[in-house]
Amino acid sequence: MDNTIFEQVDQYIGDLLLPEDQVLTDTLKSIVDAGLPSISVSPNQGKFLHVLVLATQAKRILELGTLGGYSTICMARALPADGKLLSLEIDPTSVRVALHNIQRAGLEDKVEIRLGKALDQLPKILEAGEGPYDLIFIDADKPPYAEYFDFAVQLSRPGTLIICDNVIRDGKVLDHESTDEMVQGVQRFNLALSKDPRVTATIIQTVGSKEYDGMALAVVK
Ligand code: SAH
Ligand code: DHB
Ligand code: MG
Repeated sequence: MDNTIFEQVDQYIGDLLLPEDQVLTDTLKSIVDAGLPSISVSPNQGKFLHVLVLATQAKRILELGTLGGYSTICMARALPADGKLLSLEIDPTSVRVALHNIQRAGLEDKVEIRLGKALDQLPKILEAGEGPYDLIFIDADKPPYAEYFDFAVQLSRPGTLIICDNVIRDGKVLDHESTDEMVQGVQRFNLALSKDPRVTATIIQTVGSKEYDGMALAVVK
């Protein structure tokens, strides 16, 4: 696919609506320098998450998959003074890099990062009664997306917004013969979402500086 027009329009939107941001620029550099993958949400997608936090007036956010803290910073910056964001991350290097970036952003009082496998952490969060969250961003490994979403709903209240990144995978979700476990994971999730009576959901396709993909948006009934 020729992505030139999508990249140029993403640049155009960024020029209009994203001022120079040293914290986010340094965050992206820290991810490359640490040898971590460049799979943060794009700058415009980060702004989209920021706008969604403001629109929902979320005070308590749960994130699955921190990486270098790029999406974390975009969302946490939209929190009110007493707002909190908890982010779950399996990789110790990512946790170290993200903590540094969150400190540089001055968000250490609002953000907590927990090291560990999300599927081990989520039952503990549920049992400890740490929910409900107002907004949940699912962006960790793709094979257990359906299980992550089920926990997310259990950690919600009516009106909670659940956002799931990477559910279209360059259109590969159309390939029912796909052997890619990430594609299979999001196909299984998308189907479960379509049958889930607990939420009202849509999926938006995302194009721009990142690979063609999509985000699911679900509001808990
Ligand atoms: N949300 C980030 C990008 C996350 S990339 C941003 O947009 O800025 C996906 C992250 O999920 C990686 O850092 C990866 O280490 C983490 N991850 C993968 N498997 C995981 C698991 N089982 N539990 C928690 N985190 C996981
Ligand atoms: C991958 C993961 C992501 O969260 C993303 O936004 C893009 C790619 C990946 O694992 O390939
Ligand atoms: Mg992602």
